[in-house]
Amino acid sequence: MTATVLITGAGIGIGRAAAVAFGRAGYRVIVTDVLAREGEAVVAEIGAAGGEAEFHALDVTSTPQAEAVVRDVEARHGAIDVIVANAGIAHKVPLAELTDAKWDHTFDVDLKGMVRVIRPAVPGMRARGHGAIVCLSSIMGIAYGWDEHVHYSSAKAGVVGLVRGLAVELAKSGIRVNGVAPGYIRTAQLLSEDHSLGPVGAEAAGAFIPMGRIGEPDEIADVVLFLASNAARYMTGQIVVVDGGLLVGRY
Ligand SMILES: NC(=O)c1ccc[n+]([C@@H]2O[C@H](COP(=O)([O-])OP(=O)(O)OC[C@H]3O[C@@H](n4cnc5c(N)ncnc54)[C@H](O)[C@@H]3O)[C@@H](O)[C@H]2O)c1
Repeated sequence: MTATVLITGAGIGIGRAAAVAFGRAGYRVIVTDVLAREGEAVVAEIGAAGGEAEFHALDVTSTPQAEAVVRDVEARHGAIDVIVANAGIAHKVPLAELTDAKWDHTFDVDLKGMVRVIRPAVPGMRARGHGAIVCLSSIMGIAYGWDEHVHYSSAKAGVVGLVRGLAVELAKSGIRVNGVAPGYIRTAQLLSEDHSLGPVGAEAAGAFIPMGRIGEPDEIADVVLFLASNAARYMTGQIVVVDGGLLVGRY
């Protein structure tokens, strides 16, 4: 039977690369995003390569939407095998401008948005006795402090707690929960002048990354795929850093 993976924020960036990687690996890919055009394009790309995929509009800040998408997918395909909780935003906001609303919005997408999709999918996984969940954290959540992004760093640190807690709670049900903490990866998020390094800063970052370059989205996607696969069957509660040696190389 074809395994089903649901990926949030799968229209562009790391989520898109993950969708393509899972499609190539033979999964039925449920591409979800707020970006419909981009999401449909990913579905077409997977289909053109001989894979199976479908797009569902899903804003992870909506509990009813998340539950409806999971219900619909389960009704047609059975329990979801893998969730990739990837959708995220990283807005640059200095502390003086960090209103409750801005703080809450980032947490709503980056942390609570993961719970909203995982929660309704777990009963199906439990009933079948297996499942894998992979959440996107960040080096900014596990190691670095990122100035003017403390809400983002806090949410991404929260993802570590989410992964560890759920891993223990769900282990006996055969469900593994792991995370990936990317370093600097070439996506819209990193290339944003307003919120992150921008194109010039991104290329310059290669100078202080041991491997001499920033990462590509597929280099994260392949690790997500591994964590979801049977090759990682004895791994749970872990956050794998994928950063070209950045964290171990700065001293
Ligand atoms: N690019 C990096 O260097 C980097 C580093 C560390 C962690 N990450 C994390 O990896 C994940 C993917 O990031 P990316 O670099 O591909 O970013 P991106 O900006 O290229 O893509 C983010 C995706 O999330 C979607 N999204 C945003 N808000 C949403 C919402 N409310 N509901 C549903 N989808 C929503 C976007 O539409 C987009 O498809 C994020 O969680 C990000 O924080 C990225």
